[in-house]
Amino acid sequence: MKPITFFISLLAIGLLVTNCTEKESPVLTASTQGEPSPGAATGKMSHEQHVEYGKHLVEIMGCHDCHSPKVMTDHGPVPDPSRLLSGHPANEKLQPVTDKKVLENYALFNMSLTAAIGPWGTSFSANLTPDDTGLGNWSLDQFIKALQEGKFKGMDNGRMLLPPMPWQNFVNLTNNEIAAIWAYLQSIPPVNNVVPAPIPPMG
Ligand code: HEC
Repeated sequence: MKPITFFISLLAIGLLVTNCTEKESPVLTASTQGEPSPGAATGKMSHEQHVEYGKHLVEIMGCHDCHSPKVMTDHGPVPDPSRLLSGHPANEKLQPVTDKKVLENYALFNMSLTAAIGPWGTSFSANLTPDDTGLGNWSLDQFIKALQEGKFKGMDNGRMLLPPMPWQNFVNLTNNEIAAIWAYLQSIPPVNNVVPAPIPPMG
């Protein structure tokens, strides 16, 4: 073995060892990965831990960026604690954008990032709270299909979700991770907000 190959092998073994000794994630074990049952149901996590894990995923995956209306603070806009994840507010009217050059060359967001204008038209982030106007009537299976396959309302014959919903980033989420996100979203206060339907591109 050439010294360099030997060195690389050592490095690889080192990496393997560190990976194996790393703190095992409470839900993502080989035995639960890809299973539709929530981690809580496998007995590996209490319901509270499962909800807490879902909250963590929602925060690090940036769902608030687009799905939570914002309030302005000294540090800039932050998710409005009274309307977390309730989607684009029904009563917030958008300033019309008519400049063709702008529309052709930019993607635009409102101040809260809950509405976006681009070549796809205007899209509005969905209400993810457990209200009837949000995910209240959804099943976990619908939620999995929406995130992993980009299907509107998680229905097989539904249209594809519009940008900027980054569902393509979510296709490799395990059912277990999605179930944790679901458990958290079902635990937050319901907010009654009928998000407007998307508007097709102008002209
Ligand atoms: C960059 C902005 C953005 C981010 C980040 C984002 N979303 Fe979305 N999401 C949207 C928009 C906009 C829509 C509406 C798309 C449409 O109307 O087709 C949407 C739609 C959805 C839908 C479908 C609702 C329906 O009625 O079919 C679900 C479910 C959803 N988002 C969940 C999430 C979750 C969970 C996260 C975080 C893991 C997340 N989104 C992150 C912008 C975003």
